[in-house]
Amino acid sequence: MTVSMQGQEAGSIQRMPIVGSGKIWEEMLAREFSHHRQGIARINNGSFGSCPRSVLEAQQRWHRQWLEQPDEFYFGPLEKRLRASREAIASIIRAPNVEEIVLVDNVTTAAAMIAQDMAWGFLEKRFHPGDAILMLNCSYAAVKKCFEAYAVRAGARIIEVELALPILSARQIIDSFQRSLEQAAKSSTTIRLAVIDHITSMPSVVLPARDLVALCRDAGVEQIFVDGAHAIGNIELSVEEIDADYYSSNLHKWLFAPHSVAFLHAKAKHLERLHHPVVSHNFKLGLFSECSWVGTRDYTSQLAVTAAVEFIDGNLGGLSSLIAFNHRRAMAMAEMLAAAWGTQCGTCAELAQGVWSGGADLLPGGGIAQREFEEQEIRDGGWSSENAMDFCRSSRIPWRSAQCCSSTVVNL
Ligand SMILES: Cc1ncc(COP(=O)(O)O)c(C=O)c1O
Repeated sequence: MTVSMQGQEAGSIQRMPIVGSGKIWEEMLAREFSHHRQGIARINNGSFGSCPRSVLEAQQRWHRQWLEQPDEFYFGPLEKRLRASREAIASIIRAPNVEEIVLVDNVTTAAAMIAQDMAWGFLEKRFHPGDAILMLNCSYAAVKKCFEAYAVRAGARIIEVELALPILSARQIIDSFQRSLEQAAKSSTTIRLAVIDHITSMPSVVLPARDLVALCRDAGVEQIFVDGAHAIGNIELSVEEIDADYYSSNLHKWLFAPHSVAFLHAKAKHLERLHHPVVSHNFKLGLFSECSWVGTRDYTSQLAVTAAVEFIDGNLGGLSSLIAFNHRRAMAMAEMLAAAWGTQCGTCAELAQGVWSGGADLLPGGGIAQREFEEQEIRDGGWSSENAMDFCRSSRIPWRSAQCCSSTVVNL
């Protein structure tokens, strides 16, 4: 792909391997992340990501183009340009059919679509009161609330799969799901939907999504939603192999896209039934049309997705290289902290990626210390890496900040 970067002519791009040190690397960091506050190591990349300057500039160019003549842009090239973003995603997530991909603001929005569809199942009496939704005890709280707000209110009940640290093997996770599925079968509970986090937020563990989807299908679970909020850009991804009904991931976390943009991949058979939670002119014109007209709004973050992919290809040696780099750095940091705190990593290397679990739950006295940590974090508006480490070390803080970005930002 061609990349246009400040100070470089198109076509004269230096492709560099992801090394994480050296002059070219330092220059790239200085050029692309100078808008970050200096002296702060952003180790919580998982919440908000870190959008590079060249991608923000690409987004601004789209914005200017749309402002030049909004009518023409909206009713002209927008659809084609959004398709280019969807195609870029299809190639990363190995999705054979780009029509099964839509862009939404975030995974919360995708979850709302699925939760609303569940609610309609109850309201239209296709589902029966007490039919269940299977979720992890540590599923992302906002996603849980979403299913409570729509599906539980309409008659669903939530069955929780218990996951407790330390998680030392994929087998342990599969067994936990198996136990919950068996219990549901014993009580003749119909499971209408399983929500499987691909990378749980707290603790942060990469779950064996493909095996869990297969397990749920064998047990007769009707539909499966994989919440891959942290997945794209963080782990190698094949939605075809995972074979869930729905898969959603944020592009503004680990793929360097601007806020806010996520994709939802839904199997073709579900597309007609799903709707964007904000209903506008394109209601019932197909999910892509609904998602590309959510009232009057700015679509430039969706348009800048290709620039984010180009940033990774042009500066970081491509996605696989970035993924491997993140993993190495995250593990090194996890091991350093575990040793400093006299605890152990909350999970093994195979179940970690660019994220790690700090072994928080394994230390005594978690709650209060965690609050202190968060309060101080809020007061100070961020931490230098030294401060954070010292604070944690001296007070044996069980640091539950679940995502540790070990990539570019930590180097700043
Ligand atoms: C596992 C998981 N699911 C869903 C979300 C929601 O993402 P967003 O707030 O971008 O919708 C997050 C956010 O961090 C998450 O960690």
